[in-house]
Amino acid sequence: MSKIIISPSILSADFMNLESEINAVKTAGAEWIHIDVMDGHFVPNISIGVPVVKSIRKKTELFLDTHLMIENPEKYIKDFALAGADLITFHYEACPDNVNENINLIKQYGKKVGISIKPKTEPKVLLPYLDKIDLVLIMTVEPGFGGQEFMHDCAMKIPEIKESASENLIIQVDGGINNLTAKICTSLGANSLVAGSYIYNADDYKKAIDSLK
Ligand code: DX5
Ligand code: ZN
Repeated sequence: MSKIIISPSILSADFMNLESEINAVKTAGAEWIHIDVMDGHFVPNISIGVPVVKSIRKKTELFLDTHLMIENPEKYIKDFALAGADLITFHYEACPDNVNENINLIKQYGKKVGISIKPKTEPKVLLPYLDKIDLVLIMTVEPGFGGQEFMHDCAMKIPEIKESASENLIIQVDGGINNLTAKICTSLGANSLVAGSYIYNADDYKKAIDSLK
């Protein structure tokens, strides 16, 4: 079986102790950190932005997986790239008419490119871009909040994307991931799992991370 990349979402971490929360998931075996950026427009919630990514970058070597849930991502890609994001994932729904421009902009800064789709968006909209990007992020909850219930229907998008993609494309799933839903997603072909509340609400982060693999 190929390797499953676990990306703990710091949305559910203790923000007063972010450095130790990040180090704790690193010790527990995580190689990526998922950073949820929300603008209060694209999603009905506001979270964290560029200064926090910059501060995290100074303190960790972990791969920074940045999930932009914002309108007009083209305005902010440069800032997130310079702040030290390793992967910048934007939402298809935020920019359906300038997807290629945003892919190129992210590549211009030498960063990995991801595109995400919300639960109601058909995976076929991504087909023209699959050979130009590094990752597809399939949302299995409506983006905006941690701790929501996994939407089983959305998981069926995983094989649809997989059959049109090259071996190298990372298929990531985000929302409602726990030990049971993780198995559903990986058996359908996902190879990266974002998990926030399942990991950060656990007493033992290592046990939680191991149970997702
Ligand atoms: C939701 C975010 C997720 C969130 C997942 O909009 O994109 O990354 O942190 O939280 P859980 O794992 O609790 O569903
Ligand atoms: Zn996310």
